[in-house]
Formats: sequence, structure tokens, C-alpha cells
Amino acid sequence: MSPTPMTRTDLSNVQVAKDYTGLCGLVADRIANLVQTKPNAVLGLATGSTPLGVYSALVRRHREEGLDFSRVTCFNLDEYYPMSPKSLHSYRQFMAMNLFDYINCPNWFVPDGLRRSASEIEQDCLEYEARIADAGGIDLQLLGIGRTGHVGFNEPGSAPDSRTRLVTLAEVTRQDAAPSFGGIDNVPRQAVSMGIGTIMDAREIVMMATGAGKAAIVRAAWTEDPTDHIPATWVRRHPNVHLRLDESAASLLLEADA
Ligand code: PGA
Repeated sequence: MSPTPMTRTDLSNVQVAKDYTGLCGLVADRIANLVQTKPNAVLGLATGSTPLGVYSALVRRHREEGLDFSRVTCFNLDEYYPMSPKSLHSYRQFMAMNLFDYINCPNWFVPDGLRRSASEIEQDCLEYEARIADAGGIDLQLLGIGRTGHVGFNEPGSAPDSRTRLVTLAEVTRQDAAPSFGGIDNVPRQAVSMGIGTIMDAREIVMMATGAGKAAIVRAAWTEDPTDHIPATWVRRHPNVHLRLDESAASLLLEADA
């Protein structure tokens, strides 16, 4: 899709909820609405702590309201490398434990983190892209944002036309992951991630952020000129992108606009 020209701080696509519960409600409502109007929707999903409340809201709506995912297809952004799909640290297990074990969605995919040759990884990345295309392309891509400004595991330096590939994690990203791995030495140094180009092909993007720890990178993402140094700045140029924040994550962005 061609980028939309934007003023320096365009907040027309930003919505701020009072708190994390409100934020997750907003995002879950949008996903539920899409699934109801397009039962065979293709969702791009994210891991990390940010979307957890969205997934529990969707599980609740499936259980209590019968929200039907039987014809939905889901593609996750990324997976650590090397990483066994059976490991509790894998994003495959994360998605099973937080969403797919509790809803009726048979078609969900996470990039493969198993150790293998560079050419096999390359081939699998091409197949991941082809599988997304065969499914009709992603209708809605859900994104968090890392403190480096990464989306998926597209760290600073990622090109706007990058596709699914093996990437190297930034040190800040590894430090942020260290507690859940029991120390930084256990955090993988690489990952397989959809590219910025893959993400930008989605028909709609919902980026969400929560907490004061994200306020600075949220402001940078939504005010700096697009740059490889802050991959999220490319996402802001998507013609149908929506930034959803809670008040703490929005604080510096709103200050910048005042
Ligand atoms: P978080 O990670 O949701 O755990 O803060 C976000 C990201 O790295 O994209």
C-alpha cells in the first residue's frame, strides 16, 4: 500500500483509554467486530505482555457470547531462534496458553524457531510469506511496540521493505526478556520475524502500548520522521493504522501535541 503523507504529529488515528482494561476492551471490540463481519478474517497476532488482556477478552467473548473463530486464520509475527516449539519460552506455547487452547481457531501459525541451516530458514520464511498470501493477506495486524521502537522483532536498522527473515535481537530487547528467561544469558540472540514490509501489507494495523515505560517510544514513533532507527515510524505511514494507548503510555505524546 502506498504511504499516506502526514503532518508531523497527526493524532487523528490515536485513541486513549483510561487504563489497561479499557485499552484491551477497545482492541478486543475491533477484533471481535471484524470476525463477526468477516468470519474468514485473517489476523496477524503479537506476543509480549501488551496484548494479554486482549486475548483474555477474546476468550471471554468466545465462551460467553459464542464469538466464532472456526474460519479465522491467524499468523503470529515472530518466534525466538533457536527455540523448540515445545519450550515454555516459545511464542508458539505463549499463543497456545493465552489464546488458542481456549478458542475454536484451528488455523494458526507461528514462525518456526527450530535450529536448522540458513537455507532451510530462508525457504521456510518464503513459505510463511506465501501462506499469508494464500490465506488472502492479513486483514488486521495487531502490534505492540518494544522500547527500541521495534515492531515484531524488526529492530532499529530494519528496512521498510523487509520480509520474514532471521534477525538479531537488540540488547535492550534481550534485557527486557531476561526476567522471563531467568537471566539474559538464556535469552536467544536471534529470532525469525515478519518484516516491516510484511506488516505494512496488512489491510489494517492496530498498534497498542500500555504503561509509562512506553511513553517515550510512543511519542518518538508518532512524531519523528520515518527512519530505520525507529521501525515503528514506518508503521505510522500505513493508510489504515490505529494507535491505541492507555493514559500512561499516551502521556508524552499528548504533551508533545499540547
Ligand atoms: P511487551 O513487548 O508487550 O512485552 O512490552 C512489546 C514488544 O516488544 O513488541
